Amino acid sequence: MAHKRLLCITPGHMDTDALLRDTMPEWEICSVTSLAEAGRELRNNQYLVGLLVHDREQQRPSDVDAFLRRHSNMQWVGVFNHRDLESTSCRDLVVEHLCDYHTAPADPVRLSHTLGHAHGWAMLKRRRQQLIDHGHKDSPLIGHCDAIVRLRAQIDRVAKVAAPVLIWGESGSGKELTAQAIHAESERASGPFVPINCGAISPTLIHSELFGYERGAFTGATRGKAGLIESADGGTLFLDEIGDLPKDLQANLLRFLQEKTICRVGSTRQIRVDVRVIAASHVQLQQAVNKGDFREDLYYRLAVLPVTVPPLRERREDIVALAEHFFHVYAAEKSPRLKGFSDRAVAAILDHDWPGNVRELINRVRRAMVMSDGRLITPDDLGLTRGIPAPTAALDDTRARSERTALRDCLERSGQNVSRAARDLGVSRTTMYRLLSKHGMRP
Ligand SMILES: Nc1ncnc2c1ncn2[C@@H]1O[C@H](COP(=O)(O)OP(=O)(O)OP(=O)(O)O)[C@@H](O)[C@H]1O
Ligand SMILES: [Mg+2]
Repeated sequence: MAHKRLLCITPGHMDTDALLRDTMPEWEICSVTSLAEAGRELRNNQYLVGLLVHDREQQRPSDVDAFLRRHSNMQWVGVFNHRDLESTSCRDLVVEHLCDYHTAPADPVRLSHTLGHAHGWAMLKRRRQQLIDHGHKDSPLIGHCDAIVRLRAQIDRVAKVAAPVLIWGESGSGKELTAQAIHAESERASGPFVPINCGAISPTLIHSELFGYERGAFTGATRGKAGLIESADGGTLFLDEIGDLPKDLQANLLRFLQEKTICRVGSTRQIRVDVRVIAASHVQLQQAVNKGDFREDLYYRLAVLPVTVPPLRERREDIVALAEHFFHVYAAEKSPRLKGFSDRAVAAILDHDWPGNVRELINRVRRAMVMSDGRLITPDDLGLTRGIPAPTAALDDTRARSERTALRDCLERSGQNVSRAARDLGVSRTTMYRLLSKHGMRP
């Protein structure tokens, strides 16, 4: 069984921990009497769960708010006097920071169940974070669906050779991330990765940006300057939106790919540069070639190793994991009260077609994290209400979610033993089976 530790912040005159020690023998409880003392304890030891016995005399709401904000990675349970809960500041503390609360005097048995749930919830969050961190070590691309597994295999393969790569994918699907991954896995990883968006630089500047210029090459060129190709020496040059490269520069780029040398603007000196080129486009370049907008010879030079990044709608299994990943990435911007996505939000995410791909997902999740005023993100917060059934109470979502978490956690701790899990949860075996079937879970 996982070792459970509780940090209990309780006024000096109350014997909360003695009360809990009897009902929670399997917990290791550390009691402190002030927020300052709790802060010191948390600097030295790790806790997943904290119990805050509120004391209006000693704890100013603004201090408690600041403290809980600093320690929002833990699950907090509160005990409040009934009267204190009438004040807005106390209610705000509960809504913003606590996963549950009891009114004083708390019933130790019920409190121990709440703390058990909080622990289960915290364990689940920690495990998920570990999985995300682990996934990151191997690849910056999140996902396990077949399409991403194939993409990773392609990245591995092309990273080992030096030939040019042409990445195709819809807007926001992850072309630049793929290019970075190829660079990071190649033997050039310690060299620079230099991205340039061919569509974003004015046609009059792009030549000197790419190839550099010598002093006096044009009015105002008082000093010579290396171009982006030169600055990528020993590394990778990422030519994004290559389809936007003007025709005359296509010829210069082709020459560079063939001869591995460049000439700065205003000079005839050939400079040797060792650069691997990765190009990307969101349009099918072959069509631009057919229309005469893109040089065919350059197309074949670049497309030695073609890589396709699949659109997000073809990676359905990964969408929720990606949404949760970005929820964590932008956690600092959110309110500590926000715990994740409601079941209806998850359904809406799965239902949407994601024309803007991962970038759209990031934008919607970030927006929702700012806009949401509940504990869970709703389809409305994501701007995804079309086709979703009428809202049920958010409370139902929360309840169902914590029930599932508690069930999963108890089953896991009991080695999938239903009787033991039921005992830990304080419910009968019949209730346990009813709950399992309600949530479609199986021991
Ligand atoms: N599989 C993935 N895992 C994690 N993050 C991803 C994944 N795919 C894309 N992203 C993230 O999504 C965002 C968009 O990706 P990226 O910039 O690579 O796409 P793009 O195809 O170059 O988009 P655009 O067409 O808008 O230039 C980035 O923040 C990137 O880190
Ligand atoms: Mg891009």
